[in-house]
Amino acid sequence: LKVAVLASGRGSNLASLIAARDAGTLPVEFVLVGSDKASAGALRLAESAGIPTLALNPKSYPDRPSFDRALFDRIAASGAGLLVLAGFMRVIDAAVVAEWEGRAINIHPSLLPKYPGLHTHRRCLEAGDAEHGASVHYVTAELDGGPVVAQARIPVGAADTEATLAERLLAEEHKLLPAVVGAIASGRLRWSGKAMFDGRPLA
Ligand code: GRF
Repeated sequence: LKVAVLASGRGSNLASLIAARDAGTLPVEFVLVGSDKASAGALRLAESAGIPTLALNPKSYPDRPSFDRALFDRIAASGAGLLVLAGFMRVIDAAVVAEWEGRAINIHPSLLPKYPGLHTHRRCLEAGDAEHGASVHYVTAELDGGPVVAQARIPVGAADTEATLAERLLAEEHKLLPAVVGAIASGRLRWSGKAMFDGRPLA
């Protein structure tokens, strides 16, 4: 399975995917790591892992859809069969997303459908939730709205802060995302108009 990854930041989720590949537990080929930020740490990680990289500057494009079109043309050209959004901090144009229905997943640091969007740890604390978590979902035009395929949960302690939650959750994300990519690579998790696991529709 050829995998492309989009990231805007440090790339710790990308690092977990590369580590799983290097450990032999994730039989995929990374064909591209793309970013909207030339300074993204994820690009440095990809370079040192020998993965082709691409940084496109949104300011070089007249509008958001034309940036997305240019970026996704390059992803298609890479031959990727799966696109992983791992800390990609842009909402992607609906028409472009539609072309990748069933072939693009995102990891989001909340127990979706709770807290789509930003500042999920803070919102979880403010709500006084007893649990927090991360979700991997198929990407659709609705921000953080696609079918959830897997979640990781952590308890919220009285002493927790945004920082301690984020740190503890990230450790779970680093297990969750490789597990989902592996399930897709093995064919256990598939998309045929809807998410299917071992031949059964996911709720
Ligand atoms: C993670 O918390 C992920 O859930 C969210 O953005 C963060 C990405 O971190 N989408 P990293 O760049 O993978 O370290």
